[in-house]
Amino acid sequence: MAKTNDEQFKNVISHAKEYGFVFQSSEIYDGLSAVYDYGQLGSELKNNIKTYWWKAMVQMHENIVGIDSAIFMHPKVWKASGHVDGFNDPMIDNKDSKKRYRADQLLENKIDELYSELANFSEENKTKFESFQHGILAKSDEDQATWITGFRNETTVLDAAQHPFVDEASWKFVKKGLALEVEMNLALKSENLAQLKDLIVDYKIICPISKTANWTDVRQFNLMFSTQFGAMAEGSDEVYLRPETAQGIFVNFLNVQKSGRMKIPFGIAQIGKAFRNEVIARQFIMRMREFEQMEMQFFVRPGEDKKWFAYWKEARLKWHQALGTSPDKYRFHDHVKLAHYANAATDIEFEFPFGFKEVEGIHSRTDFDLTQHQEFSGKKMQYFDNDLNEEGKPYGNYVPYVIETSIGLDRMFLLTMINAFEEQDLSTPEKQDSRTLLRLHPALAPIKVAIFPLTKKDGLPEKAREIMDQLKFDFNCVYEEKDAIGKRYRRMDAIGTPFCVTVDHQTLEDNTVTIRHRDTMEQQRIEIKELHTIIEGKVSWRNLLA
Ligand code: GAP
Repeated sequence: MAKTNDEQFKNVISHAKEYGFVFQSSEIYDGLSAVYDYGQLGSELKNNIKTYWWKAMVQMHENIVGIDSAIFMHPKVWKASGHVDGFNDPMIDNKDSKKRYRADQLLENKIDELYSELANFSEENKTKFESFQHGILAKSDEDQATWITGFRNETTVLDAAQHPFVDEASWKFVKKGLALEVEMNLALKSENLAQLKDLIVDYKIICPISKTANWTDVRQFNLMFSTQFGAMAEGSDEVYLRPETAQGIFVNFLNVQKSGRMKIPFGIAQIGKAFRNEVIARQFIMRMREFEQMEMQFFVRPGEDKKWFAYWKEARLKWHQALGTSPDKYRFHDHVKLAHYANAATDIEFEFPFGFKEVEGIHSRTDFDLTQHQEFSGKKMQYFDNDLNEEGKPYGNYVPYVIETSIGLDRMFLLTMINAFEEQDLSTPEKQDSRTLLRLHPALAPIKVAIFPLTKKDGLPEKAREIMDQLKFDFNCVYEEKDAIGKRYRRMDAIGTPFCVTVDHQTLEDNTVTIRHRDTMEQQRIEIKELHTIIEGKVSWRNLLA
């Protein structure tokens, strides 16, 4: 029987634990919510994803360099970046259960519930509704507010003349969802916390634990973790654990530009930890309190930002798709409503078992960040461009514009595991059989080759170790002599090892081995000296980068 998305997701989570990919942090103390540890295979896979990103961004681009800035930064950085005043979530507490929720997520769950009626619409009617919905969401804030007033005053809820596509009851339900979505967006945009609370009350949203609607007011809650700098708490300064790696790049813009003699356009890349006190942490490693980002800020001439935004949008999707993921698993979500500092933004979304969700953001951030740091630090953040413009004069001094690509490493890890996980039915009329397979791209696989002596005697282990000693300088190898050979193959399938090499009695006579390919389970008899070339041909970074 086909598994539901929910079951499949649960299976991936338990597989990740069973085989040493991801463990809950401090598990023996019942864990720490939304914090995870990567195990022996997880850290290898994570490192391979990092390497793929670093090579694609830094090694393959002559004009991109990488840095590793500190997690602690001067507190003024976060004032300048807007995080102290604006990096907030609107929170509400239920007085009975004492549980805290993100107000917008309570409302989003309600919207989903109201939209669930769409499942009963025909495909044609669903499309009609979606175009109606897009029409409303694309309106200006003023027009949306007018539409809401009209919606509230309507005596008949069915706008039959314009939308004769469903019965009144279903339409009423779905339209209520749309109205709530519009009202929530308007309230969030204007930071109208009282209105968010009113919506929670009006739509009769209850706490899933206490089942009551006994709510506090909505309050802003800053997502940054803070700690004391210095040995003594008294008299020491409050510092933050960085909530994004990007600011470490902005504050080093001039250091890197000058010391590396970089010419615009150029990029600075960085991989590192970020920390956010997420209130609603869910879906395993999708939303964590301690996570890793891979970010690149690309500094460009003002006026050339649109061109570079389009370039990075395409380049980043290509990076994802080179891994062989089906193209319809990915989509862009272009932001209609932009943050005040951005003039374009898009998310690369992947279809997780719980729906399409953001994995990476590409943002055209104008000169906002550098200008803010210039203002707060009093240091010039300008670049002198001596290339000639159309009039034959140097472009001169300016604060560069920035295109940012920002991908969550842990989300990419989750995506990779979900995409690779497969439970295959290998049953024949004679025999029930199955295997669990991680169909990882060979370049990402934690272990590239497993080496098995067929038996523990007759000099086979010694020969197998001899082969391993040749291969281990270039490939991550494991040696395994326990269990029947079929069982050893299955274990390697489950952790995504692309090749298994078996040493048998014939090996001792003619220096040949069998090599088994993970995906096809095909076995070939080859000479030992061919092993390196065959493995290299599949696991090389060239396959992803070229
Ligand atoms: N500098 C831009 C920036 O930080 P963001 O959209 O807040 O933008 C970028 O974060 C990426 O970081 C997201 O696309 C997501 O993959 C990842 N990310 C953000 N918050 C996360 C969290 N709490 N847990 C895991 N990954 C997260």
